[in-house]
Amino acid sequence: MAKIVNSWNDWDPLKRVIVGRCDNSMIPPEEPATSEKVPVDSEMRGMWGLRPAKTVERGNECLDNLVKILEDRGVVVDRPTPLQWNQAIGTPDFRNDSMMTCMPPRDILLTVGNEIMASANSFRCRYFEYLAYWPLMKQYFDEDPDFLWTQAPRPRLTDASYKHNYYDEKITLEERLVRTANKDFVTTEVEPMWDAADLMRMGKDIFIQHGLTTNRTAMDWFQRYYPEYRIHAVNFPGDPYPIHIDATFVPLRPGLIINNPHRKLPEEQRAIFEANDWQIVEAAQPAHDEPPALCYSSVWLSMNCLVLDPKTVIVEASEVYQQEQMDKLGMNVIPCDLRDAYPFGGGLHCSTADVYREGECLDYFP
Ligand code: NVA
Repeated sequence: MAKIVNSWNDWDPLKRVIVGRCDNSMIPPEEPATSEKVPVDSEMRGMWGLRPAKTVERGNECLDNLVKILEDRGVVVDRPTPLQWNQAIGTPDFRNDSMMTCMPPRDILLTVGNEIMASANSFRCRYFEYLAYWPLMKQYFDEDPDFLWTQAPRPRLTDASYKHNYYDEKITLEERLVRTANKDFVTTEVEPMWDAADLMRMGKDIFIQHGLTTNRTAMDWFQRYYPEYRIHAVNFPGDPYPIHIDATFVPLRPGLIINNPHRKLPEEQRAIFEANDWQIVEAAQPAHDEPPALCYSSVWLSMNCLVLDPKTVIVEASEVYQQEQMDKLGMNVIPCDLRDAYPFGGGLHCSTADVYREGECLDYFP
């Protein structure tokens, strides 16, 4: 029997990966956690329903193109099994009129060594998204005797999990930034809630962004679950919508990280990197002024790259400034046309989840 699952960071040589699918994707109805995420001037405010079929087709075309790039380089690619995301869902604690998608696998699956853990997302519409990955989990379980198939404690997501009317329609950008700086987010601390894309894995150290999708209780939970790892809370005061770390703070190889210039890591949190001779470089400007239509994310998906090994990185094809910077930083850049998949949940890093990278658990911050 083979070893199928192994990944300790985002830069070791990638051998096997999951790439999401756009099929049946929904813009979910507003709920306590999601309303905070949609910018007040977004065309998505107040709308929900199936995403237009043409955009689904085009998004899938982009993802299939990514699959081809990966397979041509010898990476094994697995795909989720989409559900009918437009079904209403319910638990003893809540009801929601639809689910969302299986397009950003990075939000749902956390790989740490030989374990893949399904997350504890704060959005009700994402409660059953893990099911799209269960056929793959079963396959890995059957084929890899060391694979640990895990589900984090499921949050109840009752009304007590959220601060209600946390933002109103009239809130200014400045007020949002004050909330972020004060680490005052829409979720409460009644239970651990986290999206896997808020975690940055670096061997013995795991950095977790405290923001709209991940709370402090999740960090306590991780420290108890992984006593042999060091769990660090990080936050980025310049981000008015702090959701997911991978368009903010992105490692390219041991010793090198790019940081969003509008969302700088606070001085005291930089200390651990500087003490260990890591270089934190400001990321290049995005090539676009606006995200594509019906997109939740910002233009900073420009930074959301997929590192194939410490010398090779896939960057979105239109992000010429980011490509140029990566090239100057000594990376071989592979461009990939993915922008039309952004509305489904993100860029190259978001669209994937690690299954196997060569390498072991190292201590980069001794
Ligand atoms: N919330 C981030 C996206 C992270 C992939 C942004 O919009 O920049």
